[in-house]
Amino acid sequence: MNDELPKAKRSGPFKTLFDNEASTLIQAAPDVYQIRFKNRAANAYLVVGSRRTILIDVGLSSNYQHLLACMNHVGVTPDKIDMVVLSHEHLDHIGAAYHFAGRCYIAAHRLAANKIMLRDDFSMLRKMFNEPNVPIDVDLWLEEGNLIDLGSFRLNVMHTPGHTSACITLFDQDKGLLFAADTLMPGGVMGGVFGSGSIADYIQSLERIKGLNSKILLSGHGRLSDTPQEDVRTAIQRSHGLLSDTAQLFDALDARSNFEPIMQSVRDLNKLDDS
Ligand SMILES: [Fe+2]
Repeated sequence: MNDELPKAKRSGPFKTLFDNEASTLIQAAPDVYQIRFKNRAANAYLVVGSRRTILIDVGLSSNYQHLLACMNHVGVTPDKIDMVVLSHEHLDHIGAAYHFAGRCYIAAHRLAANKIMLRDDFSMLRKMFNEPNVPIDVDLWLEEGNLIDLGSFRLNVMHTPGHTSACITLFDQDKGLLFAADTLMPGGVMGGVFGSGSIADYIQSLERIKGLNSKILLSGHGRLSDTPQEDVRTAIQRSHGLLSDTAQLFDALDARSNFEPIMQSVRDLNKLDDS
């Protein structure tokens, strides 16, 4: 194939299997692959278990053909995907999910599922991404404590809010695989606090992740990392910095005059409801 690298390239302990102008396929662990897109789409992950095969996030819909090309490189066709798990509601992670509608189960945390099913464009950041306005339906509403058993992988579903209210982290305890989406990225980079998110929730989620015996970090953006423990410690430091910056910003604002229009609109809304 022309767009294959002449030789497999290594970046740290991770091997690049395929690379073209739009995407890169990297082996994260045996039967676990990171699919990286060269635009604003989030990373997708292909996990090929002994009984079930899943994708964790799928990127933007415009990347679908490139997603398939990477899957095809390791012999996985779309009909072999049993489930697509969405880490949260942002469209850079979920846009291509509609291509899988009716072909496999689509799963997300119940708070993300609700936003996606109600077509909550503000929460999904539709304006940030030039995605077709097509429905994505979620078949399985996940909760903290669910387990996704692929046979040779057992992924624990952890509810890790902060980036948004609906973020999940998937963790394979035996293999130390940490699929942390936008909650934790290599180098301790944080995904920021959006819409329904909260910096305090974010800190608690990072503290929970710190307690895991993770070995490989598989994030929503950027490279793979084999130093997740270091990464999470850095992110926790940063998150406390962000919390104090937010508090200072809040102090600097005239809170009363900023909140008054919001409170008035709530009063007006309720007046209308009463009439
Ligand atoms: Fe996100």
